[in-house]
Amino acid sequence: MSFQAHKNLQISVYFLLSLIDKVNYLTKGSQFGNLIVMESYKLRKLFLDFFEERGHKIVPSSSLLPTDPSVLFTTAGMQQFSLYLSGRKDSAKDFGSKHLVSCQKCFRTGDIEEIGDDTHHTFFEMLGNWSIGQDENGYFKEGAIKYALEFLVDTLGLEKERLFVTVFKGDGNIPRDSEAIELWKKYGIPMERIMECSKRDNFWGPVSDTGPCGPCSEIHYDRGEHLGCGRTDCGPNCDHCKRVVEIWNLVFMQYFKNEKGEYELLNQTNIDTGIGFERLLSLLQGKSASYETDIFADFISQLEIVSKTRYDDNKKTFRIIADHIRSSMFLISDGVEPSNLGQGYVLRRLLRRMIRYSKLINLKPKFWIEFVLMMIDKYKDIYPNVMSQKEEIIETIKREEEKFEKTIQSGLGIIEKMVDKKEWSGEEVFDLYQSYGFPLELSLEIAKEKGINVDVNGFNKALEKHQDLSRAGAEKKFGGVGKDSGEVGAKLHTATHLLHSALRKVLGSHVKQMGSDINAERLRFDFSHTEKMSPEQIKEVEDLVNEKIKQGLLVKKEEMEIDKALASGALAFFKEKYPDMVNVWTMFDSDSEEVFSKEICAGPHVENTSELMSFKIIKEESSSAGVRRIKAVINQ
Ligand code: SER
Repeated sequence: MSFQAHKNLQISVYFLLSLIDKVNYLTKGSQFGNLIVMESYKLRKLFLDFFEERGHKIVPSSSLLPTDPSVLFTTAGMQQFSLYLSGRKDSAKDFGSKHLVSCQKCFRTGDIEEIGDDTHHTFFEMLGNWSIGQDENGYFKEGAIKYALEFLVDTLGLEKERLFVTVFKGDGNIPRDSEAIELWKKYGIPMERIMECSKRDNFWGPVSDTGPCGPCSEIHYDRGEHLGCGRTDCGPNCDHCKRVVEIWNLVFMQYFKNEKGEYELLNQTNIDTGIGFERLLSLLQGKSASYETDIFADFISQLEIVSKTRYDDNKKTFRIIADHIRSSMFLISDGVEPSNLGQGYVLRRLLRRMIRYSKLINLKPKFWIEFVLMMIDKYKDIYPNVMSQKEEIIETIKREEEKFEKTIQSGLGIIEKMVDKKEWSGEEVFDLYQSYGFPLELSLEIAKEKGINVDVNGFNKALEKHQDLSRAGAEKKFGGVGKDSGEVGAKLHTATHLLHSALRKVLGSHVKQMGSDINAERLRFDFSHTEKMSPEQIKEVEDLVNEKIKQGLLVKKEEMEIDKALASGALAFFKEKYPDMVNVWTMFDSDSEEVFSKEICAGPHVENTSELMSFKIIKEESSSAGVRRIKAVINQ
């Protein structure tokens, strides 16, 4: 058989196999009970119609980029309603109703490295209904419970006998939710399927440090014994199996967490609910993994054809590619561009990871174009901007792919120099991963070809260490939901403090911060000083900062009252209006305990100045009368 004929046959076989899968999924129905099998568009519509028929106003999804600057992404349906939920705005005035329903685009970074299992996604959709405040038609716990049961059991056909619910068992000043327990019983859920859980599982929010929040009740569904771990205590939130899955979270918003961390009673009560759309869809389509529902079915079969590999043999790779292409499409359509900071950094990671994994199944550059187009087609009716931004989406990914290909090429150059070794250490392979974007699998494959051993344990250790560091950095800024900042931001914040102190040491203590700005590429610092700095002074400042980087000063964070912080000598930026409690960052030599810098700052920082690697001033210029401006970079 000629090569071409062989290839055609192979393609037809893959095509046939995927067709069989597809027919199976559409005809076989569900193995999880007597459910109504339906496609994604139908589930969205049923949900929105159900609540519209019951007096709710359908509100379109808001952008993935929230207006609240303290959170990176929209992570829940309630975010666009935050001001209404806390009573600061009137939803009857702005939406014509206090009862709202939506299907919201959400993005959670969680641990991007974990995508590839059955249930995790970066982008997902959330179905939700809200009752804001209570007018004469308003509803609270009872209404929310009644609607939820009616939708799940009567509309979708879920078996009531398979439902479990969890309720808040109380914590400190916040009492046990006995009202919810009584209501679930009233509506036919027996006590043995009502679980009382702790604050971690059954108290929701706020999204950022402050905001509306409250106890919640989750509805879980038992998919059947055959999926269980067999333990006698198996049930909702089981650590050992996914037999029982969570499908709906009903939040009874009664509190507002204030800046002091106290829970104040809200003037109004609200209902805020959320269903993980993909998860419910999987259940209704009888699939354990959302990647096997109609949302991804065409995508996965086409990927089998193009890559000439089977999904079943490469689940993780297929899922990563599918998840990341879908979420990148949505992020770009909402205005994110790849960069080294914040939202842009998340997008860069997604695209590069998608490309890295595509190489494992021999996909060529630009392979993704047809898959992006498939996704656009899938979502264009519900989120029209994916269509209007089509060119932008494709051009953005193309540019990032070209940049990344160049990096990978330099990585290949490095590998060439390593092929004579007998073993690659964990650090070497981690460096290939971190600096040149080589996934471990790719390095392993190359090493295997050349008969080289790889210290995989060493690699995993280096990776864990790196993840711990970046998590710590991210949590500092975004503490709570929706975290994941670029490490570059933390490094540049720390570099700004070092620069500020160095300038005061070299030029004098009249130097005061007049402004500061950080982007993916550099930091910018404006300070009070009348004369142009001489080349010698610039060098002296640079050298001093580099010396402190080399010495590896510890960076310590303390939370304290603003007055106390100022009295302790911490530098502040006079133009800023500080809250009562502030973070003070101190950099000091752990041996001599000598403090080099102490400043009040809300930004994220690294844990040790050595993470900055190096520091360089690239420009010194006038900013305005009596104010000079420095632009500087790190790690060059
Ligand atoms: N805000 C709640 C959640 O995200 C309910 O929508 O789970």
